[in-house]
Amino acid sequence: MVDPLRFLEEQKIDPGLIKALRAFRDRYEVESKAQNRLASPMIPFYGKDILEMAIAGLLEGENLLLSGPKATGKNILAENLAYAFGRPVYNVSFHVNTNSADLIGTDTFIDNEVRLRQGSISLCARYGGFGILDEINMAKNDAVSVLHATLDFRRSIDVPGYDKIDLHPAARFIGTMNYGYAGTKELNEALVSRFLVIDMPPQTQETLYFIFEKLFPGLKEKALEQFIGVFLDLQMKSANGEISTKALDLRGLLAAVKIVQTGLAPAKAVRMGIVNKTFDIFEKEIVEDTVNTRIPEEWTREDVYEPDQQ
Ligand SMILES: Nc1ncnc2c1ncn2[C@@H]1O[C@H](COP(=O)(O)OP(=O)(O)OP(=O)(O)O)[C@@H](O)[C@H]1O
Ligand SMILES: [Mg+2]
Repeated sequence: MVDPLRFLEEQKIDPGLIKALRAFRDRYEVESKAQNRLASPMIPFYGKDILEMAIAGLLEGENLLLSGPKATGKNILAENLAYAFGRPVYNVSFHVNTNSADLIGTDTFIDNEVRLRQGSISLCARYGGFGILDEINMAKNDAVSVLHATLDFRRSIDVPGYDKIDLHPAARFIGTMNYGYAGTKELNEALVSRFLVIDMPPQTQETLYFIFEKLFPGLKEKALEQFIGVFLDLQMKSANGEISTKALDLRGLLAAVKIVQTGLAPAKAVRMGIVNKTFDIFEKEIVEDTVNTRIPEEWTREDVYEPDQQ
């Protein structure tokens, strides 16, 4: 079995933190009912400083709020942290209609009795999970206020009409938020003060190389450079205010590179993954120009991928 902390050693994370993580993993077992929520992430998170800050906070019992633009790896980081700590994952996606019952549970009839059907947060509390509070700033603040006692030193959930549930000592919460998206709200101070906040850095040449090489080991060097170049060019244009962030879509670019494997022309794949993400014709033209200078129309799969080794 691969050592789940190897990706941390490879990035030369402080050995003291790694040692403390191993001790944490040994101290807290995972109950059999929660074993199916242990998951290994599809890609290791790359970023030494961010990992060290996050691990240090979590080891000391703190909760984290990851804030940053889209596709900066907020969810991937949260999954990697749960994996490194060896804890089951409970994901809760927040939206405008999220209410307190979704989070802590609702009354239901079981065998002619009213009983609590536990929500994800309650299950997370019980099994010592890592609760991922995804897009936490999409919810109304009053819905989230039921979590105040959960997230601070009280470490408990007060379910009206039931006993209070105390958090398992290994339970932690990681919120994610994207500042710019339509529909996001300001988080109130009371909530933010219950988290340590990590500001996710934008992608760099180095992080992009890591991501592309991990996900697509068969990419040709020349193509790799151009795909990364497209993203960095767009990131620069967006930072300068020439275009919005709509086409700055790493997830879309990765999907495009993936479907080239089927034989679709790279230019067409990138059109779907990147260019068509903006609906403004002027902006689209700028994005198209940027893409065309790097990904020639006539490229085929063979320009992008090494021939299959069989
Ligand atoms: N530092 C990183 N290390 C490894 N992978 C990364 C990193 N940053 C981004 N990625 C890649 O970007 C993709 C998107 O990451 P993720 O879904 O975690 O972003 P997000 O910040 O949650 O975005 P959104 O705000 O749109 O939800 C992942 O599939 C992963 O491949
Ligand atoms: Mg996300």
